[in-house]
Amino acid sequence: MAAALKFSFTGFAHPRGVLVVFCEDNLKLGPATSRALAPIGDLLRRAAAADRFAGKNGAVLDIIAPAGLNLPRLVVIGIGKEGELKPRDIVKLGGIAMGKVPVAAASATIFAEFGSGALKAEQVADLALGVRLRGYAFDLYKTKRKEGEERPSKVEVNFACSNPASVAKAWAIKEAIADGVVLARDLVNEPANVLYPAEFARRASALTKLGVNVEVLDVAAMKKLGMGALLGVGQGSAHDSKLVVMRWNGGKRGADPVAFIGKGVCFDTGGISIKPAAGMEDMKGDMAGAACVTGLIRALAARKAKVNAVGAIGLVENMPDGKAQRPGDIVKTMSGQTIEIINTDAEGRLVLADVLHYVNKRFKPKFMVNLATLTGAIIVALGHEYAGMFCNDDKLAERLGKSGEAIGERVWRMPLGPEYDKLIDSKFADMKNTGGRWGGAITAAQLLQRFVGKTPWAHLDIAGTGMDSPQTDINRSWASGWGVRLLDRLVEDYYER
Ligand code: BES
Ligand code: MN
Ligand code: ZN
Repeated sequence: MAAALKFSFTGFAHPRGVLVVFCEDNLKLGPATSRALAPIGDLLRRAAAADRFAGKNGAVLDIIAPAGLNLPRLVVIGIGKEGELKPRDIVKLGGIAMGKVPVAAASATIFAEFGSGALKAEQVADLALGVRLRGYAFDLYKTKRKEGEERPSKVEVNFACSNPASVAKAWAIKEAIADGVVLARDLVNEPANVLYPAEFARRASALTKLGVNVEVLDVAAMKKLGMGALLGVGQGSAHDSKLVVMRWNGGKRGADPVAFIGKGVCFDTGGISIKPAAGMEDMKGDMAGAACVTGLIRALAARKAKVNAVGAIGLVENMPDGKAQRPGDIVKTMSGQTIEIINTDAEGRLVLADVLHYVNKRFKPKFMVNLATLTGAIIVALGHEYAGMFCNDDKLAERLGKSGEAIGERVWRMPLGPEYDKLIDSKFADMKNTGGRWGGAITAAQLLQRFVGKTPWAHLDIAGTGMDSPQTDINRSWASGWGVRLLDRLVEDYYER
């Protein structure tokens, strides 16, 4: 099992376990840190000289069993210049700190102080967020460990700070966000034999405990609504498709909601247009969009965000089977538009076509943001650092860009336009589900745009960022939980009353 992190917030006296402190350029320490390190005399200076450590941002000096202190380890983390640190840099420092707590340690004390003195409550909470995100590991299915691999089941992390009560308050908010990210990561990491549509729906339903209204629509309900595109994708699977609608109403009564829509393909074999075997196991993560939406709604509810928000996720499994849909099939969407299936592996857009239309029609949202591991083409274009953003509204695009920069989940705007749109016109139906080899991420987005009407809308193609994610100071998991913090920030900065 993953080690549970237990946080506490206290003053600077009596550090326990691994002691983590921060220092600025030229080994400048804060006052409480200097006091705590007085017993080691010039050990820090000598160790720093031996390692050419001077406190530049992200550098680490690791001293085992420091003479003079009755502690197993002293970790000194450089921050560079305090004035240059943005909140996201502080989250990162928390991640670096957690990365230096060795697996054997049962407790650690982090001195929340920079050169000029104790951190503000919000900053300590950012540190704690980094610790929590870095400490995440998906090891549910590891029953055996090699020596030195296993953490104690509970690791206590104490944050020494000047204002424990206000830090605890600030952390309650960040913890809600962290829990949302962790939920998203867990869902994406979970294998498809465990997490099929009904099981995903069950886990989303657990959000009712936080005051979220959760509806689960089954196949019969979706048939009634005319969702032929979504149902076509799932018809070859032994697992029934589901549509889950989560509502958090923390805003003004009756105010139009903001809406988030997720692609939830619990496994994508490609269907009859089957994928090659190599790497197909990664397609358990083809529900990262739905996982992000679920994690986001969890975060909004847990921190009682003052907003009305809808999260809708289309849950299916794309399988080859005697009942599976075929290339050449024509399906009718809930909107009435028809789609010719050219490639059954272009399934995500079919699922989203129906969910986008449904949400738009039922909720009349202020905007819709959908997230989807939609195309390999977006990975070719942007790699694993930026998500592709397609947007019909400059204001929404700008806000997403700013929120992403602020928290470090970045989006890169991609084009939409009639020249691309005509590439998905079909001989036999209103449109076809692929637009040919070139600009594959764009033609996928064009199809989605045909289902959003005039509502401000953004499509985030997270195929590169939601899974097989870069290993960073705050993420060591295959699934990053990408998007939860970005969209939580978008809501907080622009849509809470
Ligand atoms: N789920 C995949 C996209 C994907 C690929 C996500 C790699 C993450 C990593 C999607 O359903 C898909 O198969 N897209 C096809 C579309 C093509 C058939 C038009 C693709 O990108 O190749
Ligand atoms: Mn596919
Ligand atoms: Zn897919």
